[in-house]
Amino acid sequence: MARVNVFDTTLRDGEQSPGVNLNQLEKLEIAKQLERFGVDVMEAGFPASSQGDFEGVREIARKVRGVSVTGLARAKKSDIDTAWEALKEGADPRLHVFLATSPIHMTYKLKKTPEQVIQIAEEMVRYAREKFPKVQWSAEDASRSDPEFLVRIIEKVIDAGATVINLPDTVGYTTPAEYGQLFKYISNNVRNIDKAILSAHCHDDLGMAVANTIAAIENGATQVEGTINGIGERAGNAGLEELAVALNIRKDFYPYETNLVLKEIKRTSDLVSNLTGMVVPRNKAVVGQNAFAHESGIHQDGVLKNASTYEIITPEMVGVKSNNLVMGKHSGKHAFNDKVKQLGYELSDEKLLEAFKAFKQLTDRKKEVTDDDLFTILIEIQTDSDDVKKYELKAFQVQYGSSNLPTATVSLIAPDGTKLEDASTGQGSVEALYNTLDSMIVEKIHLSDFQLNSIGRGRDALAQAKVEMTVNGLFVTGRGSSQDVLEASAKAYLNGVNRAFYHKEPIKDKVIHAQSN
Ligand code: KIV
Ligand code: ZN
Repeated sequence: MARVNVFDTTLRDGEQSPGVNLNQLEKLEIAKQLERFGVDVMEAGFPASSQGDFEGVREIARKVRGVSVTGLARAKKSDIDTAWEALKEGADPRLHVFLATSPIHMTYKLKKTPEQVIQIAEEMVRYAREKFPKVQWSAEDASRSDPEFLVRIIEKVIDAGATVINLPDTVGYTTPAEYGQLFKYISNNVRNIDKAILSAHCHDDLGMAVANTIAAIENGATQVEGTINGIGERAGNAGLEELAVALNIRKDFYPYETNLVLKEIKRTSDLVSNLTGMVVPRNKAVVGQNAFAHESGIHQDGVLKNASTYEIITPEMVGVKSNNLVMGKHSGKHAFNDKVKQLGYELSDEKLLEAFKAFKQLTDRKKEVTDDDLFTILIEIQTDSDDVKKYELKAFQVQYGSSNLPTATVSLIAPDGTKLEDASTGQGSVEALYNTLDSMIVEKIHLSDFQLNSIGRGRDALAQAKVEMTVNGLFVTGRGSSQDVLEASAKAYLNGVNRAFYHKEPIKDKVIHAQSN
């Protein structure tokens, strides 16, 4: 079996998905889980894009010791210097520097000749190698580049010290046969290719990202890039969970192995979905809720007689537990602490106590507290930053009747500690609540999206609300959970506002592909 390295870019390309912005604690929580999942390299962000990204990458590089942490840089000395500052304390620091090579990008975006592009790429890789022991160079839009030009530039950047050559299908345009051919051509024609690793990076615009990635492996790629749940720019990137399971289930056909731990797939997927607010479609391969559901009578009958009739992946293989139960009223602190560990959380003593209190409160109102409920409570507590000023919800009341105007009364503690109280009306309960919050919050808020979901089933299920908004012009998302939908809605709104305080300056540039070097 040939070993294939896995490069995760959930925290960089994935975080470029519209509507996603993670704070440092959330990024760190995902990074720790990616380490458990067994990725070889994680791209923690784009340090030069904002102060928040810089700090997020530096924190991950400091804390994650078992995986190589990398960060993205344009082919600019200042980006490379900033990336070094963010990554230098990492256990195995590496740089990911990119420059476009397709005629379209060189002409219209970079406004440079192919010769100038070669010169910049070579110079920047050489400059990066003065600092970084490992440098990955990406030929942005490689799949729409001239293969002969790619051969020329790749030879030069390898001579300059690049240790990994990545050939991204930046716009999700290629097909498996074509992308495979590109890898074969580069492997056969680049004279010094034995000095570098070839990497595949695919986007899913035509729904072929995973198939293209596998075609690259079959033709010489020994590193593959992707994200959890396939999140990313536009239609997203290759989903690492799909790739991992496809290689495993069809190992009779694909003699390649990765270091990925399949049993961590479910938790990784849940964590990323929860923290990014990117809901996993029910029918999504491997991690969708319906991935293991058999609806038709014929299928159910077959599965009961022998699961292999209609089931090629077992839920257990990817860490889906059939016995997702149950902590209750009588569960003590010891059992709770054990469960927290089992669910993969490492909480400080203070946060553990806070979580235990929240759990006890929930058991007063909900008969059975499931792993999913606990997971939601724990994420909220673990990723809540104490260092940032914030609005806190003290109490609220909403009066609703089918024939009168809903009215909400809310009391809040403002970031400076002042107690605030106010009331407002709205066309519905949520609007009344949000109008009241608006009247007390100094920041200017514009709400653009609101979603409500239940965690698990049952009438007493926890509600999870998600909002997208701008706060003083800054785009943020917020989420909140509670057994009551209105409380969850209020929490999500305040969570969004509080996040805006966390980002001290404009959140990362969401359009890095459009930036010129
Ligand atoms: O898709 C792409 O081309 C990228 C590069 C920055 C590697 O994400
Ligand atoms: Zn990409």
